[in-house]
Amino acid sequence: MIVRFQVNGRPAEVEVSPWKRLLDVLRQDLGLTGTKEGCGEGECGACTVMIDGEVVNSCLVAAGQVAGSSVQTIEGLAGGDVLHEVQAALLRLGGTQCGICTPGIALCAAHVVDAEPDASRARIRELLAGNLCRCTGYQLIVDAVAEVAAGRTGATGATGLAGTAGAGDPEAGA
Ligand code: FES
Ligand code: FES
Repeated sequence: MIVRFQVNGRPAEVEVSPWKRLLDVLRQDLGLTGTKEGCGEGECGACTVMIDGEVVNSCLVAAGQVAGSSVQTIEGLAGGDVLHEVQAALLRLGGTQCGICTPGIALCAAHVVDAEPDASRARIRELLAGNLCRCTGYQLIVDAVAEVAAGRTGATGATGLAGTAGAGDPEAGA
C-alpha cells in the first residue's frame, strides 16, 4: 500500500504494509530515528509523535491510519539549529540523561506549554504521565517544563528551578 502523509511539514510517501507500525515507518523507511522504541506496547511514551496535533504513541499506530494526516516528530520540533525552548530548558536544567525518553518528553512538553501554559506543577506531571523516564526522577523534567510555561504566562517564582528541590520537597522522587 502506498501511504501519503505529511511529516514535519513535508510530504512523505512510503510503500509499506498498511499494518506496519508508524514507529517503524518513521525509523526504517524515512530515517527519522529520533523517535525511540521502549516498550513497544503503548506504556512508555518513548515513541511519542504528534498526529494532527494530538500526542500519540507511534508504536500503536498502523501506517494505513496516517494516510492524509500530518505527523510531527522530534526532528520537526527545533527551528533549524535553534532548539525549541522546551528542548533548551531540558538541556540547561539537566532534564535528560540517557536520552531515550527525551524526544517523546520534549514533544509532549511542547504541546503542554502550548495547550496549558498556566498548568501547575501537579498538572504538568499529570500531562506527562504517559512518558516514562528511568533516569532523571522527573524533578528536573518538571522544572524545565514549568520554567518554559512560566515564561509563556509571565509568572515568576513558581517553577521550583533545579537546585531548589531538596529532600523535603514533596515532589522529590515522584
Ligand atoms: Fe511506544 Fe513504549 S514504545 S509506548
Ligand atoms: Fe533516560 Fe529518561 S533520560 S529514560
